[in-house]
Amino acid sequence: MGTVILGTGAYLPERVLTNQDLEKIVDTSDEWIRTRTGISTRRIGGKGDETWHLAARAAANALQMAGLSAADIDLIIVATISSHMLMPSCACFVQKELGAGRAFAFDINAACSGFVYAIDMADKYIKADPGKKILVIGAEALSTRTNWKDRNTCVIFGDGAGAVVLGHGEGGCGIIGANMFSDGNLWDLLHMHTAPSCNPELLQAANPGVHIVMEGREVFKYAVRAMEEAILKLLEQEQIDLDAIQLIIPHQANIRILNKLAERLGVSAEKILVNVQKYGNTSAASIPIALDEAHRASRLEAGDLVLLCSFGGGFTWGAVLIRW
Ligand code: ACO
Repeated sequence: MGTVILGTGAYLPERVLTNQDLEKIVDTSDEWIRTRTGISTRRIGGKGDETWHLAARAAANALQMAGLSAADIDLIIVATISSHMLMPSCACFVQKELGAGRAFAFDINAACSGFVYAIDMADKYIKADPGKKILVIGAEALSTRTNWKDRNTCVIFGDGAGAVVLGHGEGGCGIIGANMFSDGNLWDLLHMHTAPSCNPELLQAANPGVHIVMEGREVFKYAVRAMEEAILKLLEQEQIDLDAIQLIIPHQANIRILNKLAERLGVSAEKILVNVQKYGNTSAASIPIALDEAHRASRLEAGDLVLLCSFGGGFTWGAVLIRW
């Protein structure tokens, strides 16, 4: 008896941006990008692919799999750092698009960890009120927040959305446990400005640019250690052995982070789901996109233990353990 995933869905924009395309934009090479990040292609949204459009399409696919309609949904949470407006939330646009008139809706910002934070929050709503049906969506249009002159970052990110429908289920499956962390002291290693939050001199050019800024090497070190810590603490908390886990679905940051994580945990590469080569790093969307891919490819069987784990700007990190 617990919170179960009733359906999963994803939506990726059609336009594919290859490493060869990037070679024409910045001083880089397909070889550098593949060996340093594992990424070959990423999707880039076009007209009509604003964050809420991507989110709504992914959600519609998840609802269809769950056999539910938008009218059945009580709450919509969207994890994003790239909504096209700060107000209203992306989730309110999704509610309008789907016609989920009964739901209340809000966004959360925990950067790449937004989806696992939102799952944890939704789990607690459902435990408090088992009748609730909740849409949790990770959606990003990071191409709108990328400095396309900065080769350190523009080769890494992509656009897309993934969603799950959560509800109460009987039996032994569902969310077993979760743990979430953050450390605001390290904010400057990975950040993105909005309009200035104070501007007493009334300077017109106070905004340093709404794009991702990253200290790649530092982020790498913290990401590996933090995801490892989140996983091991959660397994200890739930008294479950790492060998019992069938699949780990980590945030698709880059291949070297994922390989290093596998190495430190001592698990085989097959136990870690990787699709970063196709979609790049889609921040809060990467885990639900990968989860939907695993589900539709029948990589998950009833009773499997699945671990989600993430790390992102803030810093934020966390893990969720699910019995499928
Ligand atoms: N093409 C060619 N050369 C490049 C590129 C590029 N796209 N980007 C950087 N370089 C150059 C640098 O300018 C540097 O040149 P220099 O030595 O002349 O100064 C050289 O490559 C090496 O740069 P490093 O930063 O040392 O390269 P590194 O091997 O560390 O790889 C990378 C960089 C891929 C960013 C790595 O640090 C990394 O994987 N960091 C993790 C960051 C990450 O994945 N962030 C995702 C967002 S955060 C998250 O999702 C958790």
